[in-house]
Amino acid sequence: MLGRLNHVAIAVPDLAAASAVYRDTLGAKVTEPQALPEHGVTVVFIDVGNTKIELLEPLGENSPIAAFLAKSPSGGMHHVCYEVDDILAARDHLKASGARVLGDGNPKTGAHGKPVLFLHPKDFQGTLVELEQA
Ligand code: CO
Repeated sequence: MLGRLNHVAIAVPDLAAASAVYRDTLGAKVTEPQALPEHGVTVVFIDVGNTKIELLEPLGENSPIAAFLAKSPSGGMHHVCYEVDDILAARDHLKASGARVLGDGNPKTGAHGKPVLFLHPKDFQGTLVELEQA
């Protein structure tokens, strides 16, 4: 079921400052910021060859990463995203195995225009897991 690691996401309090670290200090190519109101975040991606890094900044009043940043004000690793071939089949398999799917259980469109789902961290070793249909 599990495909390649699509990205590792890092929540940051200041997307411009974090982008500058990756661009200027680490010498990476950083995409233009992309607002995702449906997910309550603004994102940039950094292609590191074998996977990507996603930097997330809160967007709007009820951002799902606001509580995370309140606990970790300087930012931190927020989730990992694995690719799957069939997101509905993956969801049904995981639910049947007892894993909790966040939200209403239906995929939303993610930053790459593909369907995504999030899985409860308590079911995956304390790590928030995103699935993206490749
Ligand atoms: Co993500």
